[in-house]
Amino acid sequence: MFKFFKSNKVKSSIDVSLDYNKIPKHIAIIMDGNGRWAKQRKLPRTMGHKAGIETIRKVIKECNKLGVQYLTLYAFSTENWKRPQNEVNALMQLLVEYLRKEFDELNKNNVVISHIGDISKLPKVCQNELIEAYNKTKNNTGVVLNLALNYGGRAEILSGIKDLCKDIIDGKKSINSLNEKVFSDYLYTKGVPDPDLIIRPSGEQRLSNFLLWQCAYSEFWYSNINWPDFTESDLRRAIYDYQNRERRYGGIK
Ligand code: IPE
Ligand code: IPE
Ligand code: MG
Repeated sequence: MFKFFKSNKVKSSIDVSLDYNKIPKHIAIIMDGNGRWAKQRKLPRTMGHKAGIETIRKVIKECNKLGVQYLTLYAFSTENWKRPQNEVNALMQLLVEYLRKEFDELNKNNVVISHIGDISKLPKVCQNELIEAYNKTKNNTGVVLNLALNYGGRAEILSGIKDLCKDIIDGKKSINSLNEKVFSDYLYTKGVPDPDLIIRPSGEQRLSNFLLWQCAYSEFWYSNINWPDFTESDLRRAIYDYQNRERRYGGIK
């Protein structure tokens, strides 16, 4: 059904040859530009979100092929509730449809379907689909797909602080034992390594409240391509650029 949209696709990056020994372990993507993509085609914004799902499919496949271990996709932020109700509803409906339609294929490809964010505020049907998908795929051994939903970096840090305070009051943790590793385990991303590479299509150069704690030393990659036009070769270009950067972590090389 998405074939129709593809004909309008802008030319994306030329292909590059990657170093398979230096594939980022964790890639996080701010999937942006769906609305603009639709506007350029005089379509309703929700058509942009629909078209963006095709990109998700391609990117997951490519990550699995390349051996990326974690893929975090920013799908709905704590600020996205500000959007018109019909757009929010459409996004929630698309999420349910996506999980139902793609489940078998993702499961067959060994993908773990996980999520981060406060999903308790999502419609019950979304919560149920997410929990079921996770329970059925948690033992898979392919790429871990983290869908960031009602996710906000500040909300995540605050929620971690609240849980930590409770544990301190209950005597389960002492203030002296706190360090960055201990605190990381209070975040939604517990057990997930920090992202090596953060990708933001659509031309914006900001984090928009994404993975604020975890991105301390992530490499950033921006592109003007809107998410529905983003292809496997754009992903490979981002990885190629990442592989040609020097990560110093504050030290010297
Ligand atoms: C990203 O595309 C999808 C979500 C935030 C849910 P946008 O809807 O933000 O697209 P633009 O930025 O308006 O083009
Ligand atoms: C960030 O995109 C959130 C997601 C992609 C889910 P936005 O479109 O909401 O961010 P801003 O408003 O441009 O910063
Ligand atoms: Mg946007």
